[in-house]
Amino acid sequence: MNNILKKNIVWHNSSITRSMREKRNGHKAIVIWFTGLSGSGKSSISNYLEEILFKNNIHTCLLDGDNIRFGLSSNLGFDILERDENIRRIGEVAKLMINIGMIVLISVISPYKKQRFSILEMLGKKNFLEIFVNTPIEVCKQRDPKKLYKKSLLGKISNFTGINSIYEVPENPDLVLDGTMPLKNNAKKIIKILYRNNIISFLNIN
Ligand code: ADX
Repeated sequence: MNNILKKNIVWHNSSITRSMREKRNGHKAIVIWFTGLSGSGKSSISNYLEEILFKNNIHTCLLDGDNIRFGLSSNLGFDILERDENIRRIGEVAKLMINIGMIVLISVISPYKKQRFSILEMLGKKNFLEIFVNTPIEVCKQRDPKKLYKKSLLGKISNFTGINSIYEVPENPDLVLDGTMPLKNNAKKIIKILYRNNIISFLNIN
């Protein structure tokens, strides 16, 4: 938005605050950001984690990259600028959701360090957990659930992450998960961090 337009809008504070909502929910809000290659297991892990949180009465929302591209980002492609815009939109939605007291799970490739850093800056460190789902590209290619690696290797998809577009490995994520490990092991690691950071008050997930 340009500066002239900005001058004509005013922020409205809501009388129901984030901390009031967190108190009523019985847990804190945070964004858990899963980054990794297509096929690395981000969606499966985040979905499994959401099931556990839901069963424990945690208010959650899961934003999955593929799904976002059916609606909110349906007008965007995969070059750098359009991915930047995709990530920015998702970050803004996440910001709204933490303010309504939710644990927001986001599962997007988000291949560029700059994009992930912009989200960290937008949300603030205490609101953001970066989880790198580290699965070797050979495994992702073998899994290829959507046959996108196959298509991109045949030259049918451009800018495909890992093939003809880069993935910048996170330098200092809060957690690195091995995407070939069982979902339960990986979910446990995240639950531990949430517990340690006083976001949730349970640790057992059996
Ligand atoms: S991101 O780079 O903008 O974060 P995003 O997570 O939304 O990517 O990608 C969503 C899904 O689009 C991927 O999981 C993949 O299935 C599909 N996809 C289609 N084309 C591409 C492409 N060129 N690069 C990466 N993923 C693609």
